[in-house]
Amino acid sequence: MRTGIRTLMMAGAVVCLLLIAYADEGTASFYKSPYLPSACYGYEDVAGFWIAAASNATWNNGKICGQKFWVKCTGGANLAPNPCYSGGIVVTVVDYCPKCRATLNLSLLAFSVIADFDAGRVKIYYEKYPMLK
Ligand SMILES: *[C@@H]1O[C@H](CO)[C@@H](O)[C@H](O)[C@H]1NC(C)=O
Ligand SMILES: *[C@@H]1O[C@H](CO)[C@@H](O)[C@H](O)[C@H]1NC(C)=O
Repeated sequence: MRTGIRTLMMAGAVVCLLLIAYADEGTASFYKSPYLPSACYGYEDVAGFWIAAASNATWNNGKICGQKFWVKCTGGANLAPNPCYSGGIVVTVVDYCPKCRATLNLSLLAFSVIADFDAGRVKIYYEKYPMLK
């Protein structure tokens, strides 16, 4: 029984570390349709409008394809004063943006959920989804 609880606590600690490893801060921009073909899935529509393109910072040779992230706006990344909305959004990485400076390039619709798209680029907090908390 005791060892059972200890194992459970250790598993919990490992889960926490994994969560920390997959949470990060960065920036997001947006892009408009057509969203197909994508670098990950060609002409297959796997996640509708709830998508993102990864920049070099996160692309990892395509290993990030299909990964879902919960993304939230944390502040302006340019002169737009208060671009953030309060909600977060879950997106699936389906594309690659080698020339992007932003960490994630969101679909226009996904970006519009977390921030005023007039801002163009915002600071974000993002973490691997599903979250276990
Ligand atoms: C990503 O966003 C930039 C604008 O910041 C845009 O020029 C580029 O074409 C977009 N494309 C993709 C696939 O990410
Ligand atoms: C991303 O990587 C590609 C391939 O290595 C390179 O051509 C491109 O310039 C890089 N983009 C940025 C913004 O650094």
